Amino acid sequence: MGKKIKVAKPFVDEEEVQAVREVLLSGHYVSGPRVKEFEEKFAEYIGVKHAVAVNSGTAALHVALASLGIGPGDEVIVSPLTFFSTVSAVLHQNAIPVFADIELESFCLDPADFERKITENTKAVIPVHIFGNAAEMDEIVKIAKENDVSVIEDCAQAHGTEYKGRKVGSIGDAGCFSFYATKHMTTGEGGMITTDNNDLAEKARIIRNHGMVGRDQHVMLGYNYRMSEINAAIGLVQLKKLEKLNELRIKNSLYLLDQIRKKIDWLKVPEIKGYIRHTFFWCPVIVLEDKIGMRATELVKKLRENGIEVRYRYREPLYKQKVLLDLSPYPGGCPFSCARRQIDYHNVFLPNVEKIAGKIIGLPNHPGLTKEELDHVVETLEKIGRGV
Ligand SMILES: Cc1ncc(COP(=O)(O)O)c(C=O)c1O
Repeated sequence: MGKKIKVAKPFVDEEEVQAVREVLLSGHYVSGPRVKEFEEKFAEYIGVKHAVAVNSGTAALHVALASLGIGPGDEVIVSPLTFFSTVSAVLHQNAIPVFADIELESFCLDPADFERKITENTKAVIPVHIFGNAAEMDEIVKIAKENDVSVIEDCAQAHGTEYKGRKVGSIGDAGCFSFYATKHMTTGEGGMITTDNNDLAEKARIIRNHGMVGRDQHVMLGYNYRMSEINAAIGLVQLKKLEKLNELRIKNSLYLLDQIRKKIDWLKVPEIKGYIRHTFFWCPVIVLEDKIGMRATELVKKLRENGIEVRYRYREPLYKQKVLLDLSPYPGGCPFSCARRQIDYHNVFLPNVEKIAGKIIGLPNHPGLTKEELDHVVETLEKIGRGV
């Protein structure tokens, strides 16, 4: 098969085009009925009282932290295996990211290590539902409550993921979603904050709109993080398709993982807990480099040469990023000059994340793939394993 297999692609058709056309011709682009309707429908889908639309997942995290009053010197516990936004949002509030390890099977925050990392300065924790899995929320929420710590779920990769029958984004104090182009559903760029907390939702609406409550009335520090009507119109159509797309994504991933379990002993398929509905933003497998005698980077290269695109990111724990090692987001200033204790990321070493960072790849699993294409992925992996 000479055909290229993409790892991800947006699923958009005439319905989204028509929805955007209607907005453009309406002349009403900002703070209109579509954003409101998208918020209401998304809140209903997740099972929360409020949803607040913003223009990216990063903005959602930033607004959630700001709405909870997280500020200079406050510590926020995060997983080091995620996209950098989970951390940069904390830095933008002049707060201090503190890293806790992950569980080896789920790749999500390890509740026991979260508890160990709590100090008197800890104000929030951000469990990331990475790759479409769900973090161990019962334990995380229990520990957080006992220590008066807010829980912000990073659901940027987990639209429709369920933990013990509840959708992620409805379990912590707030949930933050991204609608970036390759996500389970897209608005082009966009994000959403979900919450049952009336006060948090109200603050979030003000902060996303310049901290403004009326013309010329700025009551808090805010941003222009509004979602446009154009993006919301796309989101409304995509939301209707989400469950169908998720089912296909799940079916493709379970098929691939089952084939790999049976046929390829140098790829480790992670165990998924029975009470989690994993929605497979990624179809993640761990490359057992010693067993295949090849580095993961080399495997990724060979797959690409064979026309198969894979995801290969978060190759290093985030605490190794230069901006953190140098303590340099705002040179010489807050957040690190505002820290209430000495921070040095050179000293951070989290064994589980170190063990698997750089060895996880995400196989093509998007809803448009056929069984033939999935089989071709498995056959190509087998071929590479045989050294052909
Ligand atoms: C785990 C995680 N958090 C946050 C974000 C940020 O979302 P956005 O790209 O919409 O700003 C992403 C986006 O890729 C993500 O994967």
